[in-house]
Amino acid sequence: MSKKHISLNPPIVNACGILSYLDVFERLEKMNANFGAWIPKSIGPFEKQGNPNPTIYHNGSVLLNSFALPTHSIQSWIKEFESADLKKPVIGSVWGTKIEDYRDVIKKIDKYVSAWEINVSCPNKEAGEKSLMESMTEKIKEIIMPLREVTQKPIIAKLSPNEDYVAIAKSIVDYVDYIACGNTLGPGLAVDIYSRKPILAGFAGGMSGEAIKPKAMKMVNDVYKIASKEDVKLIAYGGISKWEDILEYAIAGASIFGIGTSLLHKDAGQVAKFVNNMWKDVLKYIEKENISFDEIVGCLDG
Ligand SMILES: Cc1cc2nc3c(=O)[nH]c(=O)nc-3n(C[C@H](O)[C@H](O)[C@H](O)COP(=O)(O)O)c2cc1C
Repeated sequence: MSKKHISLNPPIVNACGILSYLDVFERLEKMNANFGAWIPKSIGPFEKQGNPNPTIYHNGSVLLNSFALPTHSIQSWIKEFESADLKKPVIGSVWGTKIEDYRDVIKKIDKYVSAWEINVSCPNKEAGEKSLMESMTEKIKEIIMPLREVTQKPIIAKLSPNEDYVAIAKSIVDYVDYIACGNTLGPGLAVDIYSRKPILAGFAGGMSGEAIKPKAMKMVNDVYKIASKEDVKLIAYGGISKWEDILEYAIAGASIFGIGTSLLHKDAGQVAKFVNNMWKDVLKYIEKENISFDEIVGCLDG
């Protein structure tokens, strides 16, 4: 079956969970921030608080978050997005604990989005909750396979770097249009030496930011070797913070680039400037090297 690809100009998105709210997207569009699409916070089948604060810890090298997918109701998501006035497409992100959850959310929200990112990779959990990822690792193919029946939109499977993503990619490559590599690494632990307690209220947290880039690069390249044979394109997430990172990920095999942690702590004006300059510099490189972007994607030798 031929794959469904979306044309994003530029091929840059916000990583789900960062800047992931409609009012932020609207503000960024007003400031002409050059993103190709917007990804709102993952939405699941029921409302969920997530972990109490502190949910974020940055040690200067890596960010730990233990949000555990706080989620609004589907009704409030629809109320917000049905009147959204965005120029750029919205890519919905869905989480669930079982196959039916994904199907239900997609059915209800499908008409408001241009593609679906299927979050089968969050490593965080609330106290007493089984990690969504742990509970689903074996089931990823079962979750992904029937989704074509509920949506005609492109399907992006967002995988975890913490799992056997090569085996998972092989098992789902026939049923998806894109694979996103990947979610946060870990989880990792940070402790306070005076209270002798974990710093995050959720105990441990998924790691993101520049430090995880080499792992995500390897994931992109490993998955590219499987996905490219079936015309499945890749979205790269993990530590993108400068224009060269986009090119590195493209050479490794990615076609779309998601930016998360490096956008935290920036106001809307700074985000717009940062992303716009990044893409301008990529275009300059392409012109200087006299090569097309398509030629760069997956050209890694070795
Ligand atoms: C605060 C925070 C919240 C996140 N929330 C989600 C989420 O709701 N759904 C999801 O699929 N990924 C979520 N992620 C993972 C990011 O989308 C991204 O995959 C990861 O952070 C790696 O990219 P980065 O290093 O550029 O941040 C979250 C990450 C952070 C830091």
